[in-house]
Amino acid sequence: MTYKVLNNITVKNINNGVISNVSTDLLVIPVNNKTISSDEFKEIDKKSNGYLLKSSKEALNPGNQNHLITSINGITAKKILLVKDLNEKDDIYLWLNKYKYIAKIANSMNCKNLSILDGQVYPNGKNQLWFLEMVSRSTESGAYIFSTTKNKTAKTEKVGKEIISSNVSLKNVTLITSKLTSAQLKKAKISVLRGFSVGEGINTAKHLGDLPANHATPKIIEKIVKNTTKEYQGLKVKSLNEKDLARLKMGSYLSVSKGSDEPPRMIIIEYNGGKKNEKPIALVGKGITFDTGGISIKPSPGMDEMKWDMCGAGTVFGVMCSLARIKADVNVIGIMACAENMPSARATKPGDVVTSMSGQTIEILNTDAEGRLVLADALTYVGKYKPSYVIDMATLTGAVVVALGSHASGVMANNQFLADKIIESGEETGDRAWQLPLWNEYKSCTRTNFADLANIGGGREAGTIHAAAFLSKFAEDYKWAHMDIAASAWSSSPKGGTGRPVSLICDLILNKKLK
Ligand code: BES
Ligand code: MN
Ligand code: ZN
Repeated sequence: MTYKVLNNITVKNINNGVISNVSTDLLVIPVNNKTISSDEFKEIDKKSNGYLLKSSKEALNPGNQNHLITSINGITAKKILLVKDLNEKDDIYLWLNKYKYIAKIANSMNCKNLSILDGQVYPNGKNQLWFLEMVSRSTESGAYIFSTTKNKTAKTEKVGKEIISSNVSLKNVTLITSKLTSAQLKKAKISVLRGFSVGEGINTAKHLGDLPANHATPKIIEKIVKNTTKEYQGLKVKSLNEKDLARLKMGSYLSVSKGSDEPPRMIIIEYNGGKKNEKPIALVGKGITFDTGGISIKPSPGMDEMKWDMCGAGTVFGVMCSLARIKADVNVIGIMACAENMPSARATKPGDVVTSMSGQTIEILNTDAEGRLVLADALTYVGKYKPSYVIDMATLTGAVVVALGSHASGVMANNQFLADKIIESGEETGDRAWQLPLWNEYKSCTRTNFADLANIGGGREAGTIHAAAFLSKFAEDYKWAHMDIAASAWSSSPKGGTGRPVSLICDLILNKKLK
């Protein structure tokens, strides 16, 4: 099942300038000079006898923020929230944060529905369609609250200044536009559906990540993914078990799951909405359902965070669901490389040598560098689809947390056009990515006396690039980019998956940037 939060997001286009009769639990008005001089604002302000304008002017004052107004005679909306709008020069991430926050406020106020007036001010270079898509995506993802493993009777509580909602109350979001022609309205609806669908993909990825490792083993994930084909006929799912992986000679992949009682699964999702002869774009995700480090065991503090080590696979799943929901006219293959990395008497030991599907042998010097081992075979396998481009996504290195922090995913590629387009989509969606070099100099450190490659190298230097250099040896036959999402895919405080980089990848694919 995909993870849906809202029932619906719709556009309500107002032609007569009347919004005082909009029936909603919460009407959000972004306050800027354009909105307060609009017909709609003037109409509703008149009903309030000038109170809304007075409050809006206060909200516009520097230092002042939001004004919440409850019930005004003659205005149908139960509550009105005046939010100081952003301006054209404000960074995209501020716009995303604002609309995620609005959805969170609505949940904390127990609202079932929320109506947002289009403020008609957009970031430089962006238009109304971008805005509608962004608000839809951000309200769907902002409304998400993880509750699957919580007691259903848990209540909303105030912790310090923060209100923590335990359950989602919000069901419907309405975006109010003004005086659109029917052609404009049609386009607006497409943007809203797109944003909503991508938002669902983001939440699907977050939810899979947030599920504790005992609730999301490779076998459970396989079941979840297979179930989506009931919802979306456009998706075809097949999955490879331990025996299948052995038959394909994926010795590298199998070395990771060897110490675990949970068998691995490589899940392949096909979506063919494009032309028959069009080569597919391939997405490959690291799906380590829990990473203890194996025999090279990790220290205890913060080890719970390694349940998010399958966020690459979660992103693949989220993107595939969004594409199917939108009925995108593209061909895409998604691979989720799922396995659990555990120490045990059967586990791989440092120094063990395994043979990968590509034929290259690998000395496993550190069993905690396991992501690259499952990806190596998944990258070889995906070559059989003759993909036009391959993008892998992986929570691969702690080093990327140090290099870029959580604001950007790391990108490394054997094809500059692909890297450029990934960065461009990151800018477009506010789901940013930044490139690190992958020069040949970095590729030599995988040498060892005992195998063709070692799975670590470079010591404390450039850990993120050295991991990518290892992967590049399995991605020589096609145009490929690797995204290290170890810092961007989840947050440690507050703890939770972010659903990144689902919006970046959806933008890249939906806007046909790879043509
Ligand atoms: N899943 C981790 C990467 C990770 C670490 C993500 C910390 C987020 C926070 C990965 O499997 C790993 O353990 N990488 C090692 C590689 C090292 C052994 C070369 C790392 O980064 O320490
Ligand atoms: Mn590891
Ligand atoms: Zn890992």
